[in-house]
Amino acid sequence: MYYSDELIEEVRSSNDIVDVISSYVRLQKKGGTYFGLCPFHNEKSPSFSVTPAKQMYYCFGCGQGGNVFTFMMKYENYSFTEAVQNLADRAGITLPVGEFTAAEKAKADLKMQLLQVNNEAAKYFYRLLKSEKGQRAYEYLKNRGLSDETITKFGLGYSSNYKDDLYQYIKSKGYTDEVLKESGLFTFSEKGVYDKFSNRVMFPIMDINNRVIAFGGRVMGDGQPKYLNSPETMLFDKSRNLYGLNVARSSRKDSILICEGYMDVIALHQAGFNNAVASLGTAYTSKHASLLKRYTENVYLTFDSDGAGVKAALRALPILRQAGISAKVINMKPYKDPDEFIKNLGAEEYEKRIENARNSFMFEVDKLREETDENDPDKKAKFQKEVATRLLRFSDALERNVYIDAVSEEFMIPKDSLTKTVNTLALTYDGEKTESTIKQEEVKKEKTPMSAGCEAQKTLLTWLIEEQGVYNQIKSYITKKDFVEEPYAKVAEMLFEQLENGEINPAKIINYFGSEEEQNQVAGLFNANIGADLVREEKIKRLVQAVEKVKANSLDYRSKNETDLKEFLNIQKEKDSFKNVKIKIDL
Ligand code: CTP
Ligand code: MN
Repeated sequence: MYYSDELIEEVRSSNDIVDVISSYVRLQKKGGTYFGLCPFHNEKSPSFSVTPAKQMYYCFGCGQGGNVFTFMMKYENYSFTEAVQNLADRAGITLPVGEFTAAEKAKADLKMQLLQVNNEAAKYFYRLLKSEKGQRAYEYLKNRGLSDETITKFGLGYSSNYKDDLYQYIKSKGYTDEVLKESGLFTFSEKGVYDKFSNRVMFPIMDINNRVIAFGGRVMGDGQPKYLNSPETMLFDKSRNLYGLNVARSSRKDSILICEGYMDVIALHQAGFNNAVASLGTAYTSKHASLLKRYTENVYLTFDSDGAGVKAALRALPILRQAGISAKVINMKPYKDPDEFIKNLGAEEYEKRIENARNSFMFEVDKLREETDENDPDKKAKFQKEVATRLLRFSDALERNVYIDAVSEEFMIPKDSLTKTVNTLALTYDGEKTESTIKQEEVKKEKTPMSAGCEAQKTLLTWLIEEQGVYNQIKSYITKKDFVEEPYAKVAEMLFEQLENGEINPAKIINYFGSEEEQNQVAGLFNANIGADLVREEKIKRLVQAVEKVKANSLDYRSKNETDLKEFLNIQKEKDSFKNVKIKIDL
């Protein structure tokens, strides 16, 4: 932990979880709990819960859960320290400086220094562009139609053609080679240190908080490679960032335009489409999609018109669909990309292309059709069958019919025939299976079924925080030592202490667990189903069963693992006497 536990607890308790999450997710109150659509997976009905009494959130759909820190870490992509700092800020708490362990301090320092190095480099490139040395680069950008305002807005720059110009400059600012090695800006070799970017027009890449995390550099003219990008570093994860999103996120438009290149984003912004973003020289992944989903549910793909662009669009569409984003595809023909389109036809024409963008389903059918040989009846039949299969994706009959109409009209397939094919296929359609053939990048971890003992420990822990008074009734039967498996053992240890002191605080317990997986698991165990809506007798019955099961599990576990004979015999004795215990609980 970077700050003292007390301080972390102060920050946590000063930020009500409902308040914080409400600014990201629309929540509705149901009893003592708030519900909303889960921001971490795609869903149509709300299974994401936020419980003020526990100061925790938990999604019954995807199993993600935690406290206010966990939420900020997952949602904003913050490290733990960043989440603490941000929430301290929000609550007006001043954090002391220097409460780090040595290793943690080093890591936080390194990240901070890397941000500073990038920032220095960006400023240096920018000044160089505006200087005499950068004249050619400046002219290059001007020739590509960029205004001074645009150049400044995106912080464009120039990297000199002298071998270690930037290195010398950054060194003079006092940074060590150790830090500079991590920055991705330099090549360290036996012969010396070289600037990675040389004689290029520079595009600083910013994260959503406007911090420079990497660079792209373009040759002026025909050299290779055309674009060079920073390698992945501690700051830069290509699949979690989009170029231009720092501006697009606050564009107040209800959609986002996705293009392929830096220059496309810049040209679009300059033309007034300040909701344009691009991936950073990589294909679209589900991580990009969930990043986008935070800001919009509607995107327009404005990829290059060539074969590679179409292929990229066909790859991106299912990924976006799975994230719950609806996509349309913009046709920019006869131009190659948005930059060239706008240069030739202007913003108004582009606006029209947005209005006429092709719905993603129809776009996919278009491409299928283009691959089909008109004159081959077999291939035509196959095309119709493939279209029908895709139509099955629409589970809503009304929607499906709209598409059947559209497809049969546009592709001249008799409507009756298409409907018949769809209906025949529907009989054997297995929606799950078909959708799962779409490659999922994030392979879900296999869930091993939980043992009955674990299930009971989980349920009992939930009981202990949900129902006041349960603790005093069960403590003659159960101690914290009866929670034998992790993470229950650790949770029980902390919870029992809290119960003894009369302050129940599950959200605090979560802080002790470092990994995301453990945090989800702990959040899950405080949200187990204890049958809160059952009649009293039934509730008591279940609670008694849980107590019995936890005890039996603990005795089994201990007798299995006991190596001391005397202790072993004691456990046997305890086992025998527990058989005769009649558990009495009243709610
Ligand atoms: N790209 C890259 N490395 C390359 C080529 C391309 O990282 N060697 C990435 C860049 O992010 C670039 C995008 O792919 O912006 C699109 O590349 P391309 O279509 O080749 O270039 P344009 O964006 O059209 O670039 P320009 O207009 O400057 O020629
Ligand atoms: Mn281009």
